[in-house]
Amino acid sequence: MRFIVDQQVEDIELPENLKLNTFLQEFHSDCKHPECNFGFYGFAFGQSPFPVPKLVQEALIKNAHKGEYAAVPGIPELRQAISKYNKHYFSMDIDPQRIYVGPGTKELIFNLLEILHGTVILPTPAWLGYLPQIRFLKKNYHMLPTRANRKISPSDLRKLALRLHDRQKILILNNPHNPTGLLYDMLELEEIADVCREQSITVISDEIYAQTTYDFSKFVSMGKIYPEGTFVTNGLSKSHAAGGYRLGYVIFPQHAVDLKAQFKKILATEYTAVSTPIQNAAVAGFEISNDLNEYFDVTRNIHKIMGDYTYHALTAIEGVKATKPEATFYLLADFNTFAPELQKSKITTSQRLSESLIVHPYHTAIVGGDSLVLERTDYSARIAYVDYDGAQVYENYLNQKPKTTSDRLEFVKSNAPKIVAGIKMIEKFFEQLKQDAVRDLKTKKDSLSVPG
Ligand SMILES: Cc1ncc(COP(=O)(O)O)c(C=O)c1O
Repeated sequence: MRFIVDQQVEDIELPENLKLNTFLQEFHSDCKHPECNFGFYGFAFGQSPFPVPKLVQEALIKNAHKGEYAAVPGIPELRQAISKYNKHYFSMDIDPQRIYVGPGTKELIFNLLEILHGTVILPTPAWLGYLPQIRFLKKNYHMLPTRANRKISPSDLRKLALRLHDRQKILILNNPHNPTGLLYDMLELEEIADVCREQSITVISDEIYAQTTYDFSKFVSMGKIYPEGTFVTNGLSKSHAAGGYRLGYVIFPQHAVDLKAQFKKILATEYTAVSTPIQNAAVAGFEISNDLNEYFDVTRNIHKIMGDYTYHALTAIEGVKATKPEATFYLLADFNTFAPELQKSKITTSQRLSESLIVHPYHTAIVGGDSLVLERTDYSARIAYVDYDGAQVYENYLNQKPKTTSDRLEFVKSNAPKIVAGIKMIEKFFEQLKQDAVRDLKTKKDSLSVPG
């Protein structure tokens, strides 16, 4: 029997994260070299390495018997807890009625894009999840490339919005930002909000990494700056290392009464409600407690230590530039100074660069620029610094509390040897590339000087 797939699905490309998975698996089964048994230095996957906080795990066990369907927008206790969490950590007064719970923020962002009419503005580089959704929904969209500082320029946003004639425009703001690890400060958000007010731009503010901000006092939610026009999304996936729980929430803008009814229709049609035991476990994850505070402090400190190391070690390689992360567990490395040598070696796209790094003898997995909605020839890559045993490193951090620069360096070396070795591999790759280019040049010169 041959099944005919709907054209709409045929037309969408495999999302980049799945492509990456397939590619790594293929590489593995193809590689016959003994060293390939070791696996690879994993800078590609964006998953928090820590255990889910104990109190969340315990709450899940306690609520495992709850088999009844939950209310569509989420159980009242959870919406209440999320409201208090937002007050405590983000200084926002949110009526629980403005909160909708969904199976992860990815789904909620998709649902928002489903109900909101309008052209999408996607600043680039971007998280690899947005574009397949926009394409799947056949929405009009425009990229908004960022400049050298890798942040949205308010004047570029205004210029683009003036060119769009849709009644509504939707800006996808991701703060803190995947893949750069950068954070927008209050002033930057206010400038963006001014343009949004002026140009009637609705904002989806994806703040899934908020709690990972290294200096947490610096995080400001766009929901606070532009409450009348912002949908804020957040959840358990990154802050609580619980991506597999599939629990996220969206805060609707103030006074979006009509929209809430429409949104409820979508949720009820598509997934009824999030799993009841998971919602109950999430209550524990959003209730303010000393245990949770400690968990956030420890995990963000470890991310910062790993991020600082990765940034310094990468930028110590001659020719490599990188964003200096202030949150998340990523940075954007820029290898464009090697463009001439890369092209000479027939590595003509960032995809080819990722492929060249994953094979023997480098065994290093990165996410290339074209998976980050950059030009195919932009040799930038996302480097995730989470390739270590999170449970063990959490314990070690509590025992060692590294304070000085040398303590921190030692901490990375002893706790994340694969990060250290993986960066050395990247260095080795570019060293080799330069040597190959010099050798080629010499061969060319020699052949030219051969008489006759
Ligand atoms: C920027 C960004 N937004 C959203 C998500 C998806 O989060 P969730 O697990 O809540 O669907 C991710 C996950 O990688 C992400 O990096």
